[in-house]
Amino acid sequence: MTTIEMTVDGVRYQDEVEPRLLLVHYLRDRLGLGGTPIGCDTSNCGACTVQVDGVSAKSCTMLTVQADGSEIITIQGLAKDGRLHAVQQAFHDEHALQCGYCTPGMIMAAVDLLRENPDPSDQEIRDGLEGNLCRCTGYQNIVRAVHSAATTEARS
Ligand code: FES
Ligand code: FES
Repeated sequence: MTTIEMTVDGVRYQDEVEPRLLLVHYLRDRLGLGGTPIGCDTSNCGACTVQVDGVSAKSCTMLTVQADGSEIITIQGLAKDGRLHAVQQAFHDEHALQCGYCTPGMIMAAVDLLRENPDPSDQEIRDGLEGNLCRCTGYQNIVRAVHSAATTEARS
């Protein structure tokens, strides 16, 4: 077992973990943060995306020990003071989800995309989210939501 320490959604954790434990399993099974789903477990779908030190990462592709000392934000830590993050609000307002399974990862990836490019084109949004798969929406409303969030963030 290895001792790790990390902050997840603003809460500091210290734990003993097996070196082979994937970050997504640590978040879900140990910390009870079920808001981060597992879609494929093979790094294809992006459903498990979280932010590690401000950068989006597929948590099924990382070992928990690799995140030692990091600050992790999951979809459950994105809202602040009872208010949805601009990207969460935009997904809601633009009907950018149906079953919702891809949504946590899609939102976490979109937040990172807008951090890097605050005013992306349609194509840049599609390229930026290419690691996140959605089987329901056809992506059109997701692109619209990211634009909408970009506009909201530019105004704030
Ligand atoms: S569950 Fe991690 S990429 Fe699909
Ligand atoms: S809303 Fe169902 S997979 Fe995206």
